[in-house]
Amino acid sequence: MANFELISFANADELAARAASAWLDEIAAANHAARPHCVALSGGRIALKFFTSVVAQTKAREISLGLVHFFCADERCVPPDDAESNFRAAHELLFAPLRVNDAQIHRIHGEDSPEIAAQKATMDISHVAPKNSAGQPVLDLIFLGMGEDGHVASLFPGKMEGKMPADIFCAVNNSPKPPPDRVTLSYAAIAAAKNVWVLASGAGKETALRESLSPSGKTPLARVIQSRFRTKILTDIRPG
Ligand code: 6PG
Repeated sequence: MANFELISFANADELAARAASAWLDEIAAANHAARPHCVALSGGRIALKFFTSVVAQTKAREISLGLVHFFCADERCVPPDDAESNFRAAHELLFAPLRVNDAQIHRIHGEDSPEIAAQKATMDISHVAPKNSAGQPVLDLIFLGMGEDGHVASLFPGKMEGKMPADIFCAVNNSPKPPPDRVTLSYAAIAAAKNVWVLASGAGKETALRESLSPSGKTPLARVIQSRFRTKILTDIRPG
């Protein structure tokens, strides 16, 4: 039985709309149970469409985000007002339009070095998210994008191979996707999450998706899928 669920869409707009709708269902359920919802967001082009859909649907459905804690699956080590900052994109397109309280936003301090920023982000998430027996935070949901090489967050092919590090957030130097210095959730942290939804969108990614879905795949996304019981993949890519 496959340990992933693949949901295909005709285009990025439909993908973003469904992802937003499904996420808001999760938040509404958490609200009903009066429990916090800890989520980690990724960057990238599909994330921008996704955030826009979330804002429109949140307002239309009048859903409160007051119990949501927002983390980052990864961040570029640039200032928070830099055009390359994942925090800046989320702030402009999601947090500000929905007036999310600063206390709910756990940004990675991209203005620091990757090493310092990773340490700070690890301390922050450790104070907020419940942990499993291995000491990993158990986030309710992690959103990932997928790059043309099958990378997710800032976990790139050939990096952080070997055993699953006990780290929660890791420093990344010389990233093949600019900017070079980044911070990323580790494979272990992603494996520990209750849910992982991959928004895999865009041209030139057919081979990466096909490889990632293979039980013998070697891409970072393949490693994530193989490390988890279940991963949901929402895509407008035809894996072929
Ligand atoms: C980052 C992202 C990265 C992104 C993928 C997909 O900080 O660069 O977190 O992992 O999600 O590269 O990006 P696109 O959706 O733009 O292809």
